[in-house]
Amino acid sequence: MTDFNDHLFPAYREQADLPAETRIDWLRRDRWVSLPQSVAALGRLEDLLTYPQRGRMPCLLLFGSTGMGKSEILNRFAELHTPKYDECAGLTAMPVVVVQMPPQPTEEEFYTELMLAMNYAELSHVSLRTLRALARRTLAEFGTKVLVLDEIDKMLAGSPRQQRIFLNTVRFLTNDLKIPIVCAGTEDARIAVLTDPNLADRFGAFELVAWRNDHALQQLMASFAGLLPLRRPSRLDTNEVRQHVIALTAGVTGRIFRLMEAVAIAAIRDGREMIDAGSFDDDQLLLPLVSMQVIASTKRALRRRAA
Ligand SMILES: Nc1ncnc2c1ncn2[C@@H]1O[C@H](COP(=O)(O)OP(=O)(O)OP(=O)(O)O)[C@@H](O)[C@H]1O
Ligand SMILES: [Mg+2]
Repeated sequence: MTDFNDHLFPAYREQADLPAETRIDWLRRDRWVSLPQSVAALGRLEDLLTYPQRGRMPCLLLFGSTGMGKSEILNRFAELHTPKYDECAGLTAMPVVVVQMPPQPTEEEFYTELMLAMNYAELSHVSLRTLRALARRTLAEFGTKVLVLDEIDKMLAGSPRQQRIFLNTVRFLTNDLKIPIVCAGTEDARIAVLTDPNLADRFGAFELVAWRNDHALQQLMASFAGLLPLRRPSRLDTNEVRQHVIALTAGVTGRIFRLMEAVAIAAIRDGREMIDAGSFDDDQLLLPLVSMQVIASTKRALRRRAA
């Protein structure tokens, strides 16, 4: 290990010594980062997991714009509670089941996805009645404690009747199995769920709000400075950098991650090996990330602010 890398967190120093292509490959991979809102949301999910069974189980709606990190949180939650085989009992326990809403929000499709999430191969030629009973029995046998439905906005693609049926299904499952259900989706999905008065009553809500130019963003930039595998110290702790980041990403988590990945890769390729406010000026680099219109209006806004 070289001693040049003491600007990085100890766990990431060796990384910076690797060849350029290895570092670029590393940058392109998804990895969980403990962001303040993600950690708070995970805490709410953990609470549900240990909630004692009672007549009306509390449910949670995790909502926020696309790219804010909802699925990352749900996947992390599932990873922390992977299925376990109990040899004595000869049973598998699957405490958390995450289901992606199918593109066609019908009950059949939904139950088929649910069975797939519990590792059952595609069940064809099975009646809805059988599918429903099988899904309920399997959830009970697996001792599932929290059922998570991601991308519930897809429900909105259905007719009003299909939407009603889907919401009834959610209510039925939580009542019947006495387990909390977590629904994740965008603001539209929140409105759809809350139009059902019975569900509105039992769903708490957690919103993932866009990043702003504040202390939390300052800390996030400090984390990037400490973990991006660059050989020279970056200068990310400036108001100018934060303004660029917010203007180019509208504070959406996924876009911030893509933006930082892109500027870090450019810094490796052009040999600068560090990021500062100037790194965000490269149109070629930013084009794939945000539309030209956004870049043009961002630049105008930044120029006005500077003037
Ligand atoms: N906690 C996190 N750690 C690391 N990366 C994250 C985290 N949260 C979000 N991201 C990044 O943001 C991207 C978008 O996150 P995610 O897919 O979870 O968004 P989403 O809210 O589910 O969006 P959609 O509504 O479109 O499904 C991820 O691919 C990942 O790169
Ligand atoms: Mg998602």
